[in-house]
Amino acid sequence: MDTDSWFDFSERVVLISGGAGAIGREISLAFARAGAQIVVADLDAEAAAKVAAEAGSDAISAALDVCDAEAAEALAEHLWEQHGHIDVLVNTAAVYIRVAAVDLTEADFDRTMDINVKGTWLLSQAVGRHMIERGYGRIINYTSNAGNRGSSLQLAYNASKAAVISMTKSLAVEWGRTGVTVNAVAPGPTNTALMAPAFSDPALVESFSQRIPQGVLTPSDVTVGPVLFLASPMAGSITGHVLYADGGMSAT
Ligand SMILES: NC(=O)c1ccc[n+]([C@@H]2O[C@H](COP(=O)([O-])OP(=O)(O)OC[C@H]3O[C@@H](n4cnc5c(N)ncnc54)[C@H](O)[C@@H]3O)[C@@H](O)[C@H]2O)c1
Repeated sequence: MDTDSWFDFSERVVLISGGAGAIGREISLAFARAGAQIVVADLDAEAAAKVAAEAGSDAISAALDVCDAEAAEALAEHLWEQHGHIDVLVNTAAVYIRVAAVDLTEADFDRTMDINVKGTWLLSQAVGRHMIERGYGRIINYTSNAGNRGSSLQLAYNASKAAVISMTKSLAVEWGRTGVTVNAVAPGPTNTALMAPAFSDPALVESFSQRIPQGVLTPSDVTVGPVLFLASPMAGSITGHVLYADGGMSAT
């Protein structure tokens, strides 16, 4: 088997939702470096265009609200028509709200579920149907330790990330014989715009460090290796899996 080309993504089309975010940008740039035709999709169109420009070559960007079913379908359709294949979908778009459960509004609960859960499903559905037609695809979702354990002040986020784990497993089972794999990665606590409400609390940051066996907070590029691996031919038999890149936090 020719292992040299396993991390060569040239002639692969890779769509990254939330590609303008801290982690999404790292993933976008990593796939571009590996030769892929990347599509950086984000609600923030200007920031997405900047990431695509930074990636260079033939990288493109798209304004996308992942909660908009028609827009998700239209983007998938456009890429399918342009390229005839969409090889990898990485769903990173998400929001986080930090508030006591008794004060969480219905609107904030719904918004979190809409973006983190429904958005992940809609884009997976829109892209997945083309992957199934072609008999090949890799979908990688972003979840978190928060989806596996209780923690205060982030009920909606925790529930949304648990739902992402459940969807990952359900799609992996349903699409098991289609050539499409569906996995998730879970970074540890990373100081990004998303997590600013948590990282503004020094006691909480200290408690993160205490709970991480390796003792260091998670850099924003920590999932680059896991995502490229899951998107590579090496991971063909891995589906329905959650890969934690969290310094051992999930083991505690
Ligand atoms: N930062 C952490 O500590 C951490 C830990 C575990 C998991 N994660 C997960 O990693 C992923 C990336 O997080 P991040 O820290 O880079 O966040 P980020 O805030 O830097 O990036 C999120 C991106 O999603 C985009 N987005 C928000 N709503 C959208 C919508 N409706 N449609 C399209 N795009 C939308 C934002 O514009 C932003 O660019 C998320 O799924 C998050 O839950 C993060």
